[in-house]
Amino acid sequence: MGQRSRRLPQRPTSEKAWAGRFRQQTNRLVEAFTVSVAVDRRLYSYDIQGSIAHCRTLGKARVLTPSETRTIVQGLGSVKTELDRGRFRFTQQDEDIHMAIERRLTELIGPLGGKLHTGRSRNDQVSLDIRLYLRDQLGQLVTHLEHFQRVLVGKARANRTVAMPGYTHLQRAQPVLFAHHLLAYVEMIERDKGRLRDASVRVNVMPLGSGALAGTNYPVDRRLTAELLGFPTLTQNSLDAVSDRDFMIEVASALAIMMMHLSRLSEELILWSSQEFRFVELPDAFCTGSSMMPQKKNPDVPELVRGKTGRVYGHLINLLTTLKALPLSYNRDLQEDKPALFDALDTVVASVDVLTELMRRLTINRDVLKQTVQSGGMLATEVADYLVTRGVPFRDAHAITGRLVRAALDQGRELTDFSLEELQAFSERIDKNLFLRLTVTAAIDRKSQIGGTARTRVEQRIKDLERMLS
Ligand code: ARG
Repeated sequence: MGQRSRRLPQRPTSEKAWAGRFRQQTNRLVEAFTVSVAVDRRLYSYDIQGSIAHCRTLGKARVLTPSETRTIVQGLGSVKTELDRGRFRFTQQDEDIHMAIERRLTELIGPLGGKLHTGRSRNDQVSLDIRLYLRDQLGQLVTHLEHFQRVLVGKARANRTVAMPGYTHLQRAQPVLFAHHLLAYVEMIERDKGRLRDASVRVNVMPLGSGALAGTNYPVDRRLTAELLGFPTLTQNSLDAVSDRDFMIEVASALAIMMMHLSRLSEELILWSSQEFRFVELPDAFCTGSSMMPQKKNPDVPELVRGKTGRVYGHLINLLTTLKALPLSYNRDLQEDKPALFDALDTVVASVDVLTELMRRLTINRDVLKQTVQSGGMLATEVADYLVTRGVPFRDAHAITGRLVRAALDQGRELTDFSLEELQAFSERIDKNLFLRLTVTAAIDRKSQIGGTARTRVEQRIKDLERMLS
């Protein structure tokens, strides 16, 4: 490749907002390297909303006349319309969405547009924009999560008497209701929503008026700006306000935990739909085939949710690392916050939505579950607990039952296959009442304390959740 073809295309470098102080124009490589408009353009409506509030605050402070205020607010409205309709033309000069909007405003209303940025810096402006954006996004995400919860609760209700093996160490442990297992995820999502609400408290703080770092020379009423934008509180330190990204880290952390939950469910769906388990059937429309093996039906959706979890964890670490050694106050490093935050949010929303629809259409193989739950000695704890009611100390009861399980394994039998005489050979405290306890249903229904898997308990929790989510 010749020198010539490696040269960047010739085009005029544009005039910068800060050009006054500079003898040289910005290098094209630097322009390309520092530009962020492709990422931050999604903030445009929040940027304009913030600018309108800022403009009105300047008007109230008599920094702008009423007619100037009116003209700027109207101009911002026109810019928004152009952006809404996809008619806005970005130019080379538009380093970020804040500059792009101000540039267009000035084209539309003339030099007066240059007054909008009075007493403001992009440093407090960008913090405001992200806070406004997050406020919306978090609210929407909670709505998506509630929808997901309703689908899971609906599945639980539709299968509320179906038993399945409960696992520890991925070994069959004790029978539980399939509904109880699903509702475990509903509880996780409930905590996920709680974390988003907690983070919202720190998101919902108004930073404008902090200027570049030290505050502003203009007599602006910051409380008015907050009121206009619906913020309950104001930032109390300008240096902190322009350099704080804690609120984003909290959100990213809540998103990482959320993805971890989605990934655990995905992992179970992958296992359960395998030929080894066959507990569930994934809807065909949510699976893919193999280009080589005609028999394959692959669980790509839950696999991708599991795979994308690492990506969201990465964004959290990205944010933490970006902030860890930053001196106060604003540093351009902070521009790297948005790709991480936005992609984390996009990934979580997409994962929640696709899993919601997959779960809605999931079929449960009741026969397989029924058969599986009968086997594997999962009633052994019932035998031990029964012996306790007969006065045997639990440790001894455990040992007696262990010998019984050993014998069953050696003979290839289930505990339920033993006759009373055979059972009494292990302990003379055993009588025929043991048989009443040695059923899956009895084992499940005895776990009737709050949080247990008994049918009455699960039914009650389904009802409570249905009420909460309606
Ligand atoms: N695009 C920048 C960001 O996202 C806006 C603030 C730029 N401030 C500055 N002084 N260069 O962080």
